[in-house]
Formats: sequence, structure tokens, C-alpha cells
Amino acid sequence: MEQRKILVTSALPYANGDIHLGHLMEVIQTDIWVRLQQLQGHDCIYVCADDAHGTAIMLSAEAEGITPQQLIDRVNEQHQRDFSDFLINFDNYHSTHSEENRVLSESIYQALDDNGHIARRNIKQLFDPEKELFLADRYVTGTCPKCKTEDQYGDNCEACGSTYSPSELINPKSSISGATPVEKESEHFFFTLPVFHDMLKEWTRSGTLQDSVANKLSEWLDDELQEWDISRDAPYFGFEIPEAPGKYFYVWVDAPIGYMASFKNLCDRSDYDFDAYWNKDSSAELYHFIGKDIINFHTLFWPAMLTSAGYRTPTAVYAHGFLGVDGTKMSKSRGTFINARTYLDHLNPEYLRYYLAAKLSSGIDDLDLNLEDFVLRVNSDLVGKVVNIASRCAGFIGKGFAGKLASELDTPELLSEIQAAKPDITNHFNEREYGKAIRLIMALADKANQYINDKQPWVIAKTDKQSAELQQICSTGINAFRLLITYLKPVLPAMAEKAEEFLGVDPFNWADLDSLLTDHTINKFKPLMTRVETDKIEAMVAATQQEFEAQQKAENKTMENDDSGFEAEIEFDDFIKVDLRVAKIITAEQIEGADKLLKLNLDVGLDKSGAPLTRTVFSGIKSAYKPEDLIGKLTVVVANLKPRKMKFGKSEGMILAAGPGGEEIWLIEASAGAEPGMRVT
Ligand code: MSP
Ligand code: ZN
Repeated sequence: MEQRKILVTSALPYANGDIHLGHLMEVIQTDIWVRLQQLQGHDCIYVCADDAHGTAIMLSAEAEGITPQQLIDRVNEQHQRDFSDFLINFDNYHSTHSEENRVLSESIYQALDDNGHIARRNIKQLFDPEKELFLADRYVTGTCPKCKTEDQYGDNCEACGSTYSPSELINPKSSISGATPVEKESEHFFFTLPVFHDMLKEWTRSGTLQDSVANKLSEWLDDELQEWDISRDAPYFGFEIPEAPGKYFYVWVDAPIGYMASFKNLCDRSDYDFDAYWNKDSSAELYHFIGKDIINFHTLFWPAMLTSAGYRTPTAVYAHGFLGVDGTKMSKSRGTFINARTYLDHLNPEYLRYYLAAKLSSGIDDLDLNLEDFVLRVNSDLVGKVVNIASRCAGFIGKGFAGKLASELDTPELLSEIQAAKPDITNHFNEREYGKAIRLIMALADKANQYINDKQPWVIAKTDKQSAELQQICSTGINAFRLLITYLKPVLPAMAEKAEEFLGVDPFNWADLDSLLTDHTINKFKPLMTRVETDKIEAMVAATQQEFEAQQKAENKTMENDDSGFEAEIEFDDFIKVDLRVAKIITAEQIEGADKLLKLNLDVGLDKSGAPLTRTVFSGIKSAYKPEDLIGKLTVVVANLKPRKMKFGKSEGMILAAGPGGEEIWLIEASAGAEPGMRVT
């Protein structure tokens, strides 16, 4: 077989959230496909990256009191760790906020502009006068202009379903600052998508897409295509557009270019040749695995941009449906919005890889992770069927024959039948019909178990532990196991590796399915996988609920409504974690709309590098102090409190005060002579 050159991607997860089971479904689907190609001997590269740009990431960083760079670095590390623990075998995991991506984005933009595919015109948008930023629709809320339901998002009403523009909302509010937005005009840059109508009509129908996706798109393509707004005004976290100060590429412009950039980064430290994969006449194959929510970005804007810029277009874009848990959308309050890490704290990643594989198809239907079914399925298929074949045979081979498999096999037809399924199983995997592949494999596993039931090796062993028949039967069982676990290797790479150790063989590949193992010494059998325990599932759901409640608490607990009595006891270890420091109040301000809080700026000494360290805190002492009386006072602050986003801004600490309330709240004052930054003990 000719070795194909294949480049595969999964969609780039946003850098402001944890990896959850929905993301995992996508990368598991992709990873299985990539591993299959590799096992078949193809040169298949799998790259991904974090999608690090956009307003949401800028605001998340701000709320945490860190720079966007700090945020995306931390998240990138967590994402990589999560993926690697789920055995996702990326050849490279990069970031869209990278030099490679800047260079590629600028050059692609330049090409589009040179080709006359960038239009410029002024548009009006809602603008937050307090935060001084333009508001995307999802950052505006107000009363629906049609049915008058309050608290609706800027573009559509959840109550009556009508769509509108944010400026039509009654009583609109910026959900970032609470301010009333104003309309403001600014120049935007547009990609002239309509020019690509004919190209897209053809490309989307050329076998690059699933039929259902192509049909959907053809409806859109029959309507008039709109020019695509590709610029955003400062402040924005992204790449500035060349020769357009204060204008940034919209995150969705440089996100797909991030696929190229991640590959470029890999090329720069390996023998892979970037051009050989991306040139217009490249013979390499390029596949994007994505969720159905981001189809138009990958099948309209992206191929059109690539075409304008003189690059090749994707060989295919494979969309999948959404993962739900227990019959509904993943829900934080129900404990079913499960993060990768929470899952890993309780369960083996291969359980999920197997369960999803058993349910995945090539379509875009949604898929349900039913937790009860998950336990049954994994236990009965993997532990009860596959592992069982080996564990029923290995002991006899070990005890009676010093681990040596027979040179002649009993009932070789069983093994030929398993081998004969190779083309079908391979095709199903190739076509992303993993469920069908798994069903075939499990039907063969049933046959192998039936074979062992029929032959009853334990009965023979009772009379003669060294009978040739016993050795041949068990060798056939072990061979059946070897073939089945090889079929499952794209799905269960870690279990396959344990099986390779047990069998004392080189890593399996697809060609090994054509051979059998005879006259070969195997090692002692160790359990390859343990059963899923129901209480682990319950613990995972409970942990997810707890994470959610803790997060809710942190978000809601402003001092505006904090009437803390005594909390639960804490350990001494908890107490010494509290970093109490002397702080000097530099400024104190009223906050519009807050009836208890004052906004304080504190001098808390110097940081490690010797730079002055300040903290902004919101303190519920307005009823007792006039702002001007506070300035210059020395007080005590909890300096290592995790910054919290509150209604009026981010609070980076807490100052200590005591009293029953009202006018009787006394700031804890540090004694004269104390210096800002001194630790209070
Ligand atoms: N950053 C964009 C993708 C840019 S690609 C150039 C994005 N990020 S995302 O984090 O929201 O989603 C990443 C991928 O995960 C998308 O393909 C999305 O469809 C998929 N999923 C997110 N939640 C999902 C489920 N619940 N189920 C299955 N896939 C889901 O979109
Ligand atoms: Zn409405």
C-alpha cells in the first residue's frame, strides 16, 4: 500500500475554559481515526492548539487580575495535560497567540487585500461608554422588543424566539459594566465572501462534506451570502491588522489559520515540509474534525480564504453532533457538565474512549452519554468479553506449558473468521462508523468466548495439565484475544500496550492482523482493565456539582449581601495560609449604585522584584466611613485572597473590619510605625 501523507486537526478549544466531556468526544473521535491511519502505516500528523484570542478571554483575564498571556499560558498547560491523560496523541499542540500564527495571519490577510477581497466601511454598533469597548451581541441584555420579557440577550429572545438587533432591545444594558450602551460608528473590514459563491457551490458538493452538511449549506448558498466582518476595534486580545492601528483580526480569522501555524511550528523542529502540505497543488490530505456548531466557519469562510490566498483547501471537513449526558444537555447544576480533570480523578480514560467509540457514527446526530449504560457497556464488553478471553486461557498456558503457545492451533477457522472481518472493520473505522466497527468486534469476541465455553479447557486441565489439546485450545483463545485487541488498539491504546507486554510482542500494527502467534512464549497474565464501579460515577457527579456550587458562591458572594455569621471551623493549616499584611489606603471612592461598598486602592508594599504592589478591594464599610477619612490610614488586608469578579469590578483582597454594622464598623488599624507590606502575625 502506498503511504499517504495526511494532516488532521480537531477544533481549537477556547483558552478560557476547562476541557470537558464535549471537547473530549471530538478529540477522541479524531484520535481514533489518526491512530488507525498510523497503524495502517500512513504518515498521519495530528495537530491542534488553543484558540487564545477574543473579548471573552480578555475579560476573563481581567476578572482574574492577570494578563491574557498569563491566562492562556496557564490554560494551555492544563489543556495539554488533560488531553495527554486521555491518550490523545497530538504531534503538536500550539496556541493561536503565537508568532507563527501572527506571520501567517498577516500574510493571508495581505493576500486577500491585494486580491481586492477586503472591503472597508463604517458600521454602527453598541458601545459600552464605561468600559469603552464595542459590545458583541452576547454582551448586551435588555427587554425583548416583541414580547417584553426582561433580561434577554442582544440578538434573540429565549421567551418568544424572535430575533432582532441589539439596538432594538428596550432598556439595553452592557452585561460587562451594567452601563447603558450607546450607538457608535467605526470602520470595519470585511471579507468579500459573495465573490466565492461559485467556488463554494462547487467545493461543498465535491465530496468534501457529509451529505447532510452539504445539503444544509446549499440552502445558505442559495440565499445571498453576506460579506464577513473580520475586524474588531481595540480593546481586543488578538493580532492587530497591519497598517490599521487599533483594529484587530476577529478571533475567527486567525483561529483556523492556527491549524497551519501549529503545523508550521512542528515543521520548524522536524523534517516535515510546510509547503508540501499547504501548497495549492499539494498531494497531502487535510482533514478537519469539528462540531456541528462551527460548520460555516470551516466550510465557507475558511476554504474561501485559503483559495484567495493561494493555498489548498481541505480534503474533507468532518462534523459531529453534540454530546449530552443522561438524555439532556450537559448541565452544571445536575452535575453532568463534567470536566476532563474531574472525570480523570475518578475513572479510567479508556472507559470513555470505548464508550464513545461504541456510540459514534459518521453523522451529525447528537450523542448521549448515559451513565448507567456506560457502566454496563464497559463492564460487559471490555472486562466481560475481551479481557475475559485472555484471562480464561493464560493461566493454563502459564502453568502447563511454561508460557509457550502451541505450534498447531485448535479450530483455526475461528481465527480466520476474526481475520476475515478486517476489511469491514477497517472500512467502518475509516468512515468514522466506529459504532459499527465495535459491534463487529464484539460479535467476534462473543464467538471466541463461546468457543472457550464449548471446549471447556478447565475440564481437560483437571485430568491433564499438559495435554496437547489443552495447549492448542488455549493458544487459539490467546490468538483470538490478540486479534481483537489489535482491532481495538485505535480506541484503547493503553490496554493494547499492556496486551503487547503480556504477549511479549512488538507493538501491534494493522498488518499483524494477517498473522498468528504460535510457538511463542508469553508472559504472566495481569488484569488488563478493572470494572467500572458505580460509586466512582456517583463521586464524579457529586464532585462536578460541588465545583459548580463553589463557583456560584464565589460569583455571587459580594459584600453587598454578605452577612457572615461564624463559619465552620478551619484547620490551623488553613489559617496559616492566610497572608495578612499591613496596607495603606491610597484612594477611597464611592461606587455608583452600591449602597454598602467603597472602592479602595491599597499600598501593600513591594513585590519580589521590588516593584510597588497595590490591590484594589471593595469593602462594605460605606455606612461607617467617609472616603476622604480613609485615605492614608493603615489597615490589615488579606493579601492572598484569590481575585474575585464582583458586580462593580474585580476585588483583589479583603480588608479587616469589625462591628455590628451601620455606623459601627471599625476598620482594624495597624499600629503606628507599621509599614505597608509587613506581614501581620
Ligand atoms: N475556538 C472554537 C473553534 C476554533 S477552530 C478553528 C470553538 N471552541 S470550543 O471550545 O467552543 O469548542 C471546541 C470544539 O468542541 C468544537 O468543535 C465544538 O463543537 C466542540 N464541542 C464543544 N462542546 C461540545 C459538546 N457538548 N459535544 C461535542 N462537541 C462539543 O468552537
Ligand atoms: Zn421575546
